Amino acid sequence: MRQIWITRAGPPEVLEVREAPDPEPKSGEVRIRVEASGVNFADILGRLGLYPDLPPMPVVPGYEVSGRVDAAGAGVEGDWVGRDVFAATRFGGYADVVCVPVDQVFPRPAGMSALEAAAIPVNYFTAWQLVVVMGGLKRGETVLIHSAGGGVGIAATQIAKHIGARVIGTASAAKHAELRVLGADHLIDYRTEDFEVRTREITGGRGVELILDAVGGDSWKKGYRVLARTGRLGMFGISAAVTQKERSIFGMLSVLASTPWLQFNPLSLMNANKGVFGVNLGHMWGELDRQRSWAVQLLDLWKEGVVKPKIAKTFRFDEAPLAHHFIQDRGNIGKVLLVP
Ligand SMILES: NC(=O)c1ccc[n+]([C@@H]2O[C@H](COP(=O)([O-])OP(=O)(O)OC[C@H]3O[C@@H](n4cnc5c(N)ncnc54)[C@H](OP(=O)(O)O)[C@@H]3O)[C@@H](O)[C@H]2O)c1
Repeated sequence: MRQIWITRAGPPEVLEVREAPDPEPKSGEVRIRVEASGVNFADILGRLGLYPDLPPMPVVPGYEVSGRVDAAGAGVEGDWVGRDVFAATRFGGYADVVCVPVDQVFPRPAGMSALEAAAIPVNYFTAWQLVVVMGGLKRGETVLIHSAGGGVGIAATQIAKHIGARVIGTASAAKHAELRVLGADHLIDYRTEDFEVRTREITGGRGVELILDAVGGDSWKKGYRVLARTGRLGMFGISAAVTQKERSIFGMLSVLASTPWLQFNPLSLMNANKGVFGVNLGHMWGELDRQRSWAVQLLDLWKEGVVKPKIAKTFRFDEAPLAHHFIQDRGNIGKVLLVP
């Protein structure tokens, strides 16, 4: 098999394809011949040495794959073999063969392409947890979605529009026209405009009921201020820590320095009638049953045409560094995938 390794912390060029013998599925696992692997922003944080959950380097990153099952370990029903599937992987997904516990594997509905399927687990489970499970977004409410052009942002926009909410997105200006077509009602170029000021203008001073913010630092501070009464701030990442392509802790230190450590105390939350919550899908491995129920609901919405993974671009395994450059250059509208 071929795997893409993060050989050491550094620029995208530290990603390297290496060969290894095919793995055998252990008890409770299936083996998948991979057709597509998802690239996530967390892989970039990992490559830069800024992701505490990543196992020690060298390491094969990757949280999700799609493909076909070609072998099953002991205790797994034989009818899994030959099925088209997608799966959540706890690292190791940047590979053309993976072995995964069968409870992390989902059969692919007829008509769903391998590319679409690989774009579902991280982006849509995260968006579902943020918008529906913890954010409780309701019809008629307004949600502010940061990085609206990213994989999670587009997934969250589709779910929010289905609920009947109004979507304000932040994204680099070049993405606005396409994001409008994808459902965003208002767009803010947060790099040239103050999103707090613009959000107040758009909402007539009222603010928004839900914010999805994986930028972090100062952005959380401003977001909290622009929440309406009953508003909820969902924090789920720290993109702002990524300031360059080489390893540097300067960005991380600046996010830590601008994080509103004291604003969210219980008394101020009570008096302001506001809520804050955090999401880390990577810490939901003990909740696979809940994720399976989210998958059922998401696959129903896929059949209705509500969930529609948007693929920004695919890269061959030997082009993995280009995939990371593409995201760090903010070029993607939707999901970036690796195909063997
Ligand atoms: N907690 C969780 O479970 C979880 C799960 C999935 C994702 N996340 C987080 O959610 C965020 C978005 O993830 P994603 O997979 O949707 O992203 P993505 O598809 O990789 O999109 C990346 C986009 O983020 C924006 N961005 C903001 N700050 C950036 C920076 N410093 N450098 C480069 N791009 C930056 C850029 O768009 P614009 O320039 O248009 O803003 C870029 O195109 C990330 O922070 C990720 O770590 C968290």
